Amino acid sequence: MSGILKAGVIGWPVAHSLSPTLHSYWLNKYKIEGSYELMPLEPHRVGEAIQTLHARGFCGANVTVPHKEFAAQGMDKLDETATALGAVNLINVHKDGKLEGRNTDGFGFVENLTASAPGLDLKGARVCILGAGGTTRAAGFALLKEGAELRISNRTMEKSEALAELLQAQAGGDITIVPWSERSQALEGISFLVNTTSLGMVGQPALEIDLAALPKDAVVTDCVYAPLETDLLKAARVRGNVGVDGLGMLIHQARPAFKSWFGVDPEVSDDLRDALIAKQRENTV
Ligand code: ATR
Repeated sequence: MSGILKAGVIGWPVAHSLSPTLHSYWLNKYKIEGSYELMPLEPHRVGEAIQTLHARGFCGANVTVPHKEFAAQGMDKLDETATALGAVNLINVHKDGKLEGRNTDGFGFVENLTASAPGLDLKGARVCILGAGGTTRAAGFALLKEGAELRISNRTMEKSEALAELLQAQAGGDITIVPWSERSQALEGISFLVNTTSLGMVGQPALEIDLAALPKDAVVTDCVYAPLETDLLKAARVRGNVGVDGLGMLIHQARPAFKSWFGVDPEVSDDLRDALIAKQRENTV
């Protein structure tokens, strides 16, 4: 096996992933002999690709949509978060070939928030989270673990109910379901608003929400990062709320991956953000 440490990202489609730019930036910065490649794989090819990572010289991989749940089924070991979420975004290939599945999405979500809004105390904080997909599940799990109270509002009520039940069983805590039609009223008294829906993303419909009831000291974050400055963040900033964009979540979720494969806990810098924003711009022209 060569001395080069090899990792990559498995997804479909994955051509526009920012992860190669992110990990290559850190590999260059820390002068590490490593590589990070795109692994575009249709669903029927993912199982074999994962099981042969060790034989092909990989020390690990990221897994992204739509393969996170499938990947969780092929691991020799799962960490606590990956077990709870039933989804893996990070694989560590151990020296004996055993595969360990981890999930760092919730970690990235919370780290991004606490780095961008210093002083934000999540313990006992009332949080309104829009959506009920995989991102909501990861962020919701992490928020509950931090002691926050959740108000979940999603277009499809059944999904909110199923998610609330799951999160309640896995993390416990205070979870309320709010009908989608009442999302604007649900902002009353909260200290934190999160959008995990795809609304507001390039090519998707706008997120319609009235921020009038949102306390002025509440923090607003949007997991959408294309565009980086979403209409939600703009509207929040105009009325004086702190806004936290979603790019940081991607960067912070990658830190434990980089550390586990390449041995360095990497720094999150403005230069790195600029490199990712430039790549993102390239993707959208
Ligand atoms: P992820 O895994 O990234 O969270 P997802 O599972 O595709 O992505 O979830 C997308 C979220 O955006 C869902 O909460 C979805 O609502 P539904 O559960 O009702 O599908 C939400 N979403 C997408 N388009 C929407 C729309 N036009 N109006 C309201 N919510 C929408």
